[in-house]
Amino acid sequence: MKILAILYSGGEAARQEPRLLGTTENQLGIREWIEKQGHEFIVSEDKEGPDSVFQKHIVDAEVLITTPFHPGYLTADLISKAKNLKICITAGVGSDHIDLNAAVERGIEVLEVSGSNVVSVAEHVVMSILLLVRNFVPAHEMIERGDWQVSEVARNAYDLEGKVVGTIGAGRIGFRVLQRLRPFDCKELLYYDYAPLPEHAAKEINARRVEDLKEFVSQCDVVTVNCPLHEGTRGLVNAELLSHFKKGAWLVNTARGAICDRDAVAAALKSGQLSGYSGDVWNVQPAPKDHIWRTMKNPLGGGNGMVPHYSGTTLDAQARYAAGTKSILENYLANSPQEPQNVIVGRKGYETKAYGQR
Ligand code: NAI
Repeated sequence: MKILAILYSGGEAARQEPRLLGTTENQLGIREWIEKQGHEFIVSEDKEGPDSVFQKHIVDAEVLITTPFHPGYLTADLISKAKNLKICITAGVGSDHIDLNAAVERGIEVLEVSGSNVVSVAEHVVMSILLLVRNFVPAHEMIERGDWQVSEVARNAYDLEGKVVGTIGAGRIGFRVLQRLRPFDCKELLYYDYAPLPEHAAKEINARRVEDLKEFVSQCDVVTVNCPLHEGTRGLVNAELLSHFKKGAWLVNTARGAICDRDAVAAALKSGQLSGYSGDVWNVQPAPKDHIWRTMKNPLGGGNGMVPHYSGTTLDAQARYAAGTKSILENYLANSPQEPQNVIVGRKGYETKAYGQR
């Protein structure tokens, strides 16, 4: 059987650091195991265009392994050409790079390693909230430049204590973000999600649900986005919704770049409607060199906490999603049942409610 994996090239770093398992060099640590069983394992980062390794091998691969960090975009068109494809495994969390509706139609299973990096992301969100609210990046850049003008950075630095923080999406990550914010004594923790938190979970973090999105954002000093990308969330944070944000709010998005409208966010930051935008996800990955989110700033020259997509790919997370990928593959090869929480699309359609209300 042909197993195709689209991973990112880790270069020198991956040769020096074998725990960078999600790279083309270290191949999730499963090459030997796969080949011992007589299967073919094609691994590449080459994913764009009809001559790419991805598009050449997808036509007869039975298993596709992809990572959200360097997504091989499996469109409906490619699915129609992938005659042999039975299962897509996401080494990580977030399968929006696969046309899930087309997978449902063809009966192709889609699985994720649910939970594998949710703590990694939640920690990154808490860090991003703090670095925006405290105006950390411009302060650090000032030090590197050799300058020392405390008032220049203090003029836009605040405490997180006493602020209202809300998450769009209160699943594994959103819940963990609010849970980690408890000791900061925020004024209130809010969430917006069509699925209410179980009573004990809402009680544990003392979070209030707001059912109308505009009302929700208008109450938050900080909004963090933690829902999957699907038809109902693409472009959700657009110019119209941003106009309902509190003036000068901070926005953190580690979910998916395309949930926030690129130009509307840049304009809101430039005008000061947003004081800051931070995250690690982009509408196209890798992000082009001239992507406006790389350099956009608020009127005081700060408010940008963007990094490449790495919040969910710490070395700890890589160990977990590599082991999880192997376990899903093991179940598939042995025709054993999969862990229910990992199944996004099963043989009979969607098995999760997280990718939209249907
Ligand atoms: P989850 O499935 O546990 O939770 C998602 C929550 O979002 C669910 O409660 C669902 O009801 C809610 N939701 C869905 N559509 C919504 C909408 N229209 N409005 C409000 N809420 C909505 O997923 P988890 O593990 O918390 O991950 C969430 C997302 O975070 C992933 O789908 C992925 O896109 C992203 N992620 C990013 C990573 C990174 O490295 N930056 C790593 C891992 C996940």
